[in-house]
Amino acid sequence: MSDESVDTSKRQFLTTTASMVGAVGAGFMAVPFVSSMQPSARAQAAGAPVEVDIGKLEPGQMIRVKWRGRPVWILRRTEETLKDLVTLDSQLRDPQSKESTQPKSAQNPARAIKPEYFVTLGLCTHLGCVPTFRPEVAPEDLGKDWKGGFFCPCHGSRFDLAGRVYKGVPAPTNLEIPPYRYLSDARIVIGDDEADA
Ligand code: FES
Repeated sequence: MSDESVDTSKRQFLTTTASMVGAVGAGFMAVPFVSSMQPSARAQAAGAPVEVDIGKLEPGQMIRVKWRGRPVWILRRTEETLKDLVTLDSQLRDPQSKESTQPKSAQNPARAIKPEYFVTLGLCTHLGCVPTFRPEVAPEDLGKDWKGGFFCPCHGSRFDLAGRVYKGVPAPTNLEIPPYRYLSDARIVIGDDEADA
């Protein structure tokens, strides 16, 4: 059963795509100069950075966008989630993310520039399936120790809400974090981490 079908009451999802991000840009078309700053759909597909408005994201919600044809997720974590993350280290393969891929600015326990907002590629590091978002705590199928995370339906890999992989599953490393940076408190750009350089 997909997470989307079972967990819409407490923690809703905002689902969007690169095309919808493009649609946000289209909203500015009355202002030609600003419009010209938006990358075209073709440029985005080729790898141009993608801007995402996170201003309306509520705690527990996740936005899905595409960057370079790959899913990127932006999750606004709750205070409870952030507290839970620090209790999981002993169950994780690489809790400090030493062998995992992330920009320097996200090399910290929360794996994020701002702990509240977690940005990750939505691709399992085993064979590239798209994991499901399972934010609920202790669901029947994932067990009483589950604190929320991402579950890959292909071969059962499990990741916490910082994308850190659990021990004993096929995925070898944590979810990969793409380059990103903040343009303001409410806007981030995926695919551009010049502040990281
Ligand atoms: S692709 Fe995710 S567990 Fe195999």
